[in-house]
Amino acid sequence: MNQVNGEVVHNTESRHTSQETVTRLIRQSQEAKKQAYCPYSNFRVGAALLTLDNCVFTGCNVENACYNLGVCAERNAISKAVSEGYRTFKAIAIASDMNDQFISPCGGCRQFMREFGSNWDVFLSKPNGSCLKMTVEELLPVSFGPEDLSIKKVFDIPNES
Ligand code: THU
Repeated sequence: MNQVNGEVVHNTESRHTSQETVTRLIRQSQEAKKQAYCPYSNFRVGAALLTLDNCVFTGCNVENACYNLGVCAERNAISKAVSEGYRTFKAIAIASDMNDQFISPCGGCRQFMREFGSNWDVFLSKPNGSCLKMTVEELLPVSFGPEDLSIKKVFDIPNES
């Protein structure tokens, strides 16, 4: 659900991704996880991002001795895709080493995904390949996005000069 000019707009169904593609994407996220650089948390994460034209970009988390500079796997995958000219995504799969729980993207990564639309799929996986399918909209409802910046405001900000 998005609010545009005060009206509630319901998104149509997110794009369909075949079971075979999802399975492959999860495997690719598990492969990406092997590159994780996480000496501080020892928490490996991998992501595999599927673009509209079926290219896949992977990413892992990359931590830093200056802790707050660490980057999540999802953000790495998205940044790789965007820097290669891809901005429309069908799905992202996320992998971690947690057996008993599906890996859930952090708030910052949810917002980073949302920048490129709310109506695409996020597959939260476990090491055995099982997954939970959610949309970006479900992970970040009532979100703020690029469209909101151009919505009419009550007054104009006075020019400083
Ligand atoms: N992390 C990710 O890369 N993605 C997530 O979805 C959750 C957390 C990373 C950040 C940090 O390197 C480590 O996992 C522990 O928080």
